[in-house]
Amino acid sequence: MNLILLGAPGAGKGTQAKRIMEKYNIPQISTGDILRNEVQEKSELGLKVKNILDRGELVPDNIILEIIRKRLNQPDCQKGFILDGFPRTIPQAEGLEKILSEKDRKHLRIIEIYVPEETIVRRLSSRRICANCGKDYNLMLNPPPPDGRCPVCGGKIIQREDDQEKTIRKRLKVFREQTEPLIEYYKDKGIFYRVDGQQDVQEVFKEIENIISKVEE
Ligand code: AP5
Repeated sequence: MNLILLGAPGAGKGTQAKRIMEKYNIPQISTGDILRNEVQEKSELGLKVKNILDRGELVPDNIILEIIRKRLNQPDCQKGFILDGFPRTIPQAEGLEKILSEKDRKHLRIIEIYVPEETIVRRLSSRRICANCGKDYNLMLNPPPPDGRCPVCGGKIIQREDDQEKTIRKRLKVFREQTEPLIEYYKDKGIFYRVDGQQDVQEVFKEIENIISKVEE
């Protein structure tokens, strides 16, 4: 099963990808997580992209496609994968098709998680993460402990640089302009499904499970 989770920033792609990964035993590939790790490690790539991430803009397509090409070549992707936050532009979608056709693995299914913008602004302004292990906390959903330390690893709980309201709105604008055209692109190919991401996490997951069971029939 080769899945793409499409959706605006904060729609719940990462949250659902983790559940799909656990249930179906296929890896979550989050380009955002990969880039943030590079930034944290201060690698050459990390230094190059840090300001782009902080501004809420998109990293150039050629860099992203190289990351994806390498990642999809790893053995754990043989059985399938969940792409979370990729593709984000039409050239990225075309690049992905090329990579998959070289591997004779063209069968993609796209699930869009839809959430209105104002809900997203509230969600993302309330998000906190562990700077060490990346665990997600949310002031509305699952608040972090008062000492500000992650119960899983003891790391410091912080707000993502790009989760400031001004940057959230910028990311939403980038989504509207550069990523939303992918919805029509994939709808035209007949491999597109949409779920209502305003429901609670478990309900969204149930809808996704239903789609996956239909696809696998
Ligand atoms: P990335 O990390 O991919 O950020 P994003 O797409 O903006 O996604 P988020 O992680 O913010 O949201 P999500 O949809 O995963 O939601 P989540 O489950 O976390 O990218 C960051 C940056 O990297 C980009 O801006 C860009 O610079 C660069 N980049 C990455 N990929 C790129 C690419 N392909 N091309 C170019 N540049 C790229 O949930 C959000 C919050 O809501 C959480 O706190 C969660 O607990 C809560 N929540 C989730 N579901 C629910 C629910 N059902 N109800 C209530 N709360 C919920």
